[in-house]
Amino acid sequence: MTAAVAFAAAYAVGSLTSAVVVSRALGLPDPRFAGSGNPGATNVLRLGGKLPAALTLAADILKGTVPVAVAMIWLSGWPLALVAAAPFLGHLFPAYSGFRNGGKGVATGLGVYLALAPAVAGSLVATWLTVAALTRYSSLSALAAAVSVPLWSAYWHPGHGPLIALGVVLALLLVYRHKGNITRLVRGEESRIGDKSKTA
Ligand code: G3P
Repeated sequence: MTAAVAFAAAYAVGSLTSAVVVSRALGLPDPRFAGSGNPGATNVLRLGGKLPAALTLAADILKGTVPVAVAMIWLSGWPLALVAAAPFLGHLFPAYSGFRNGGKGVATGLGVYLALAPAVAGSLVATWLTVAALTRYSSLSALAAAVSVPLWSAYWHPGHGPLIALGVVLALLLVYRHKGNITRLVRGEESRIGDKSKTA
């Protein structure tokens, strides 16, 4: 399999917006146009409760993990790092909705690292859970985890250029997608995990 074919396939899988599929199947509001407007597990939790959120989270993680795990059979190094970015990019810029109304990439990014570098993934989960336990802000937990991706990558895989570069790119994109959350955090208007109020 060439890297280009693997990239296209992984991008197509990432473009499936799990939050929309789950919400439609369960008769919930479209998370792209309700709550925070983000098609992700946090907003589905807000709009529909724990089970739909858990389904969304699982599907978003898997669409990162599965394509990367398959690509790892054939690819390594820089080509693999490129393909590993594809499901994340698909989630942020979904092909099926004109590259708009995508998510922020937290769960899909985690899924990518579960396949690519499980020790990094475990460290990211620990980072997210620590900040969430202290603050109950999903977005702040995601931002802390994002900033830590290159650091954990360098810690567990020192000198691994492709993995560290991937971490920098994914972290920058994830932080950029949280710009609305950052504004609300600064203003003290961000909702906390478990709050039903909308945040956008
Ligand atoms: O995973 C996305 C999370 O960090 C923020 O989601 O809905 O509060 O914008 P939301």
